[in-house]
Amino acid sequence: MSADTQKKRAGEAAALRVEAGMTVGLGTGSTAAWFVKALAARNLADLRCVPTSEATAELARDLGLPLSTLEDSPRIDLTVDGADEVGPGLALIKGGGAALLREKLVWEASARCLVIADAAKVVKTLGAFALPIEVVAFGHKTTANRIADVLADHDIAMPARVRTASPQAASDRVASIGAQYVRTDGGNLIYDAKCGAIHDPARLADDLKLITGVVEHGLFLDLADEAIIGTDGGVDLLT
Ligand code: 5RP
Repeated sequence: MSADTQKKRAGEAAALRVEAGMTVGLGTGSTAAWFVKALAARNLADLRCVPTSEATAELARDLGLPLSTLEDSPRIDLTVDGADEVGPGLALIKGGGAALLREKLVWEASARCLVIADAAKVVKTLGAFALPIEVVAFGHKTTANRIADVLADHDIAMPARVRTASPQAASDRVASIGAQYVRTDGGNLIYDAKCGAIHDPARLADDLKLITGVVEHGLFLDLADEAIIGTDGGVDLLT
């Protein structure tokens, strides 16, 4: 069975958790898109939907879901979103879709957060997926040096690489010959840190946040309440 079928199962199961009248945070990515489609199909009354990216806003708008903003709806009942890795204790890596800042803002405003993912996303140790770090464009190479220092302090030898729209590996040389840096909805850059294994996610999260120029990172710790994992047989619940 394909990962996409598992994602669809998880998204559809999550849509059943939504009740009429709720304010719902809409995640970003292919799994969240299945949730948004299943939610729209339920045609529930009096929903308010707060999207975590322009891409999700566009999808939700096209499907006729009523959109709101974090400014107008600062208290969200339930957010449903995907993840790049789901580790022990529902510690997550997010940001593969470059929406991690808005996602974290919406998650933190939510009474309940539900992660949806395909089975391959569940890991014993976070870090095989490169950790996305959102960085202000001004002085970003200086910020990247400071990120490298923090990573080294966590026994991670590989410096983070700026994400480009090019399918080739990001590098100064590629960037200088014209590859476009990926920009987030907030206009920032993404650096991806190939950590291998993150042995102390909480300390790494704290250390990255202390770097001036780092806007946010993709470690979502103590935020998810539950996960719905799509499998070949149906869905698994993780709490
Ligand atoms: C976007 C995210 C996504 O939720 C994450 O990348 C998972 O994406 P997908 O559901 O397409 O596998 O964090 O910033």
